[in-house]
Amino acid sequence: MATNIPSINDLVQQASSAYKTQFGCEPEVAGRAPGRVNLIGEHTDYNEGFVFPMALPMVTVVVGSKVEGDSCQVLTLSPYLNDEKLANFNIPSKNDTLKPGSPKWANYVKGVVAKFIGTVPAFNAVIISSVPLGGGVSSSASLEVAMYTFLEELAGQRTDNPAKKAIACQMAEHEFAGMPCGIMDQYISVMGKIGHALLIDCRSVEGRLVPLTNPEVAILITNSNVKHELTGSEYPTRRKQCETTAQLMGKKSLRDATLKDLEGFKDKLDAETYRRIRHVITEISRTDEAATALENNDYKTFGQLMIQSHNSLRDDYEVSCPELDQLVEAAIDVEGVYGSRMTGGGFGGCTVTLLKQDAINKAIDHIQSRYKGKATFFVCGPSDGAMPIKL
Ligand code: ADP
Ligand code: GAL
Repeated sequence: MATNIPSINDLVQQASSAYKTQFGCEPEVAGRAPGRVNLIGEHTDYNEGFVFPMALPMVTVVVGSKVEGDSCQVLTLSPYLNDEKLANFNIPSKNDTLKPGSPKWANYVKGVVAKFIGTVPAFNAVIISSVPLGGGVSSSASLEVAMYTFLEELAGQRTDNPAKKAIACQMAEHEFAGMPCGIMDQYISVMGKIGHALLIDCRSVEGRLVPLTNPEVAILITNSNVKHELTGSEYPTRRKQCETTAQLMGKKSLRDATLKDLEGFKDKLDAETYRRIRHVITEISRTDEAATALENNDYKTFGQLMIQSHNSLRDDYEVSCPELDQLVEAAIDVEGVYGSRMTGGGFGGCTVTLLKQDAINKAIDHIQSRYKGKATFFVCGPSDGAMPIKL
């Protein structure tokens, strides 16, 4: 059965009541931001290519208030963290800058405070989230963007340029969480729109909304509930490999490279690098094609491109794992499934499946029966990006 997704109202109420218990008063402002699922376009964002995500109905909510002095206290209600749940830090000043430390989860919060465009007053806050943690659907970006949106309300300064807000959150992740991610997760979390997927051009940092409202078509997210430890080291290695090869090829980024260019350099590249670059070049054009297919309601073509994307991530970019391969293979067995692929950074996390609405139950049963582990399922429509919440 698909997992029930809690309503935003429920989350706000739980966070507000925890705030009252912890800090003895009501929170005054709040912000929320969604996780995301990437439909296609994987490991292309840091190559200035295209990505095609949508915002999820699962969100992170931050509630809180200004306090006197310099000291901030932030409590997370996440049950999935082993670290201390209450974090303390001082608002940064010239002589006292914020630095990453422990608990680890608070680095995302501190990073956003440090990168906020404007002046942040001291505050107390409570965080609650319905985004699965570490599942490749961007709980971290949703935390960053929810925090940023909360700070905008707190400071009374809304950023007029959404790309700048996304970039500030991306920089928080680079500098405070040590993850050299691309712009996709933060941008879709800021810019998502209900009923639409968003084709993001990661070179110009601009998006094109594509409607996805056909009631006969659904998106099924399957969490493998595994996360292999490789994620931390393999991502930066691949990013570096792409950048070094682009340079060797005399290109600003792999966005400018074609398969013909790649063939010209084949002799200068080892077999692994050649495959990595082939993934990026083919994935960028698959993503562009997929957006057009969706615009034409051509779900068949879209599904085929998803399967090609998965195969390329598995064989050329080598970021899949046996659990994700198993989930995808099981999904595409089912009648009514257009396509399926791993989504996000890889090495565990989730798959995304495009299928007919009336095939959902059959697909869930079949995937679970074929999967060696225990999967979790979410049926999700494209949802809105970040926004303030009126308390
Ligand atoms: P994801 O794909 O979910 O973004 P990451 O491993 O990149 O996976 O980020 C997960 C991390 O983000 C968690 O380990 C935690 O440090 C932080 N995080 C996400 N959501 C929350 C939350 N609600 N409360 C506290 N920390 C969170
Ligand atoms: C994510 C990362 C994104 C993107 C993705 C792979 O984990 O945060 O920026 O690169 O992996 O497509």
